[in-house]
Amino acid sequence: MTKLPVTYELLHVDKHTGARRGVIHTPHGDWQTPMFMPVGTQATVKSVQPRELKEIGSQFILGNTYHLWIRPGDDLIAKAGGLHKFMDWDQAILTDSGGFQVFSLADSRSITEKGVTFKNNIDGSTMFLSPEVAMKIQNNLGADIMMQLDEAVPYFESYDYIKQSTERSARWAQRALKAHKKTDSQALFGIVQGAGFKKIRENSAKDLVSLGLPGYAIGGLSVGESKAEMNRVLDFTTQWLPENKPRYLMGVGAPDSLFDSVIRGIDMFDCVLPTRIARKGSLMTRFGRIVITNHKYKEDFSQLDEDLDDYASTHFTKAYLHHLFNTNELLAYNLASIHNLRYLLKLMEDMRTAIENDQLLDLREKVLEEYGYNRP
Ligand code: GUN
Repeated sequence: MTKLPVTYELLHVDKHTGARRGVIHTPHGDWQTPMFMPVGTQATVKSVQPRELKEIGSQFILGNTYHLWIRPGDDLIAKAGGLHKFMDWDQAILTDSGGFQVFSLADSRSITEKGVTFKNNIDGSTMFLSPEVAMKIQNNLGADIMMQLDEAVPYFESYDYIKQSTERSARWAQRALKAHKKTDSQALFGIVQGAGFKKIRENSAKDLVSLGLPGYAIGGLSVGESKAEMNRVLDFTTQWLPENKPRYLMGVGAPDSLFDSVIRGIDMFDCVLPTRIARKGSLMTRFGRIVITNHKYKEDFSQLDEDLDDYASTHFTKAYLHHLFNTNELLAYNLASIHNLRYLLKLMEDMRTAIENDQLLDLREKVLEEYGYNRP
């Protein structure tokens, strides 16, 4: 049997929860889980240099099939030597398949068994994405982990539609695996769908697991359903996923949801939240989010965050960042993004240590209390 390009090693399970401390071995290094992956949609984490990402402890970063296919094109990236080389990132990369973006960004979509036809949101031209096309693009990009093409369905669709769509996505996973040309250097992950329906999630997970993929994602969550609802779905879904493979919850990055999901056995996360809110002047700190553009920070000469150790937090005051945002200076985006990413990366580091010591619930209580989740 050939060795999978990406493998998962379970080191320890927290005694009081289902939280897993592990390592993901990839062609670009071994990385610690649970982990948060910064999003670099267009072959860049917006406003942050790769060397800065390393400095704040990023392990994996994300890229996007949809965007990179449209611009600059996957053939160009292949010519440049692949995405790692093109963007100068020598650690691990995961690329999403484009499914989610086609459903959230593109116009005039029509979906059939073959794939999805849509007008792209950049120049309006008609494009066709199928499981095979998504694999060809992602094989050209060369990420360590690639996602299968799936249909991202609204959470509150009917049972019949979700069932039909989820079964089609499972068939797409099979086709993706067949079309995968670089099985020795890139791993293909399947995506469990099924909205809030237990039976559909079960069948979806079982269909995908029967393909023996190196890892599995849970998709279709954090799309408008309540946190309690997401937890309910996680509670029953992980039981059908193998213990010796990584589990990735797509699109989740709020501190309380990260705890809720890690406790339920999730290993990998990504979300645009930290970088998107950073560019609007919202900073994640130990004592909750602060809006740095607020007048009250005009003469506040305290550090961005007394507890964080990154360049932005240790060198600059709130008053300085307030000024940068107030004058639309570009450095504002860089410093705020570094700061928010470091907040989440450090949170995951703390979670890893807490799991090793069977103290995740204590950490959760302290962090969420201080962050203000329990404030009236
Ligand atoms: N990102 C967040 N949720 C999803 C999902 O369900 N599918 C894909 N492909 N990407 C996602």
